[in-house]
Amino acid sequence: MRAKSPRLSVTVAEVVEVNSLIKRFRFVRTDGQAMPPFSGGAHIVVDMDDHGTRRINPYSLMSNPADLSGYSISVRRDDTGRGGSLFLHQQVRQGMQMQISYPVNLFSLDQRAKKHLMIAGGIGITPFISQMAQLMSLGGRFELHYSVRNREVGAYVDELKSLYGERIHVYFDDDGDKIQLDSLLASQFFGTHLYVCGPKGMISWVRSTAEMAGWPAGSIHSEEFLAPPVGEPFTVELLRSKKTITVGASQSLLEAMEAADVEAPYLCRGGACGQCETDVVRLDGQLEHNDHWLTDEQKASNQLIMPCVSRFRGKDLVLDR
Ligand code: FES
Repeated sequence: MRAKSPRLSVTVAEVVEVNSLIKRFRFVRTDGQAMPPFSGGAHIVVDMDDHGTRRINPYSLMSNPADLSGYSISVRRDDTGRGGSLFLHQQVRQGMQMQISYPVNLFSLDQRAKKHLMIAGGIGITPFISQMAQLMSLGGRFELHYSVRNREVGAYVDELKSLYGERIHVYFDDDGDKIQLDSLLASQFFGTHLYVCGPKGMISWVRSTAEMAGWPAGSIHSEEFLAPPVGEPFTVELLRSKKTITVGASQSLLEAMEAADVEAPYLCRGGACGQCETDVVRLDGQLEHNDHWLTDEQKASNQLIMPCVSRFRGKDLVLDR
């Protein structure tokens, strides 16, 4: 039997429609206790039973780390995804009981930074909301540059401006606004750390621009959880567990292992943390690497796979799990 990750039993205390695309959910502990402590940038995974299909998705906490009466997350509806966000938007109501994980932080503030320069795109704003609250209570120096499509779907713009004033800079894509990244980076003083969370293209643009401008790698921080892609079903033999499992078209390999009660470690479930890395014993076919954890050389070696997001196409795959 696999070792179950510890879970918190929570009640949905509030569901708020932030705009046509985004809903906010607040969870409190069902036993009335305080939530476990967390720091800005942490995420939880939310366990969902979608009519018999188990979905476990990661979401950044956006509440104030000083307030442990509950946790808040914001979820953008993805009409073409595998269903987790649709389940939250369509099925989850105030008063429902759910299970969530303890918080994990893969995107924490670097305490050595003299200043925190934050760049957010769309729903990537959420970890910064808790980080800014943390920095306010510690007296930390920060500024946020927030790019959104337009006023209708730009979440929390007014709230953030009223809380943090001139530290908040908002760019509306539909108005042709664009972050002037070169000059923004050039204007920062030594000791500033750069944080980016948003769509893949934005993260690579910010990271590569900063690297080319000579920013040290250790001062650039990013977070992106990839959604597991759908694909053709495939079969996998798990050597240590002595099981052969089939991964469904809209299921990840990690989810298929969990469904078969096979121990399968994870933290991010989005190809970013490395926790689920698994050795490939043998294969006859092609690994479809979708993570951004393994190096190009590791991917080409066919010796490792990240089951949270990666798939397989071929006749035979045997994993050391
Ligand atoms: S769980 Fe984080 S990379 Fe797979």
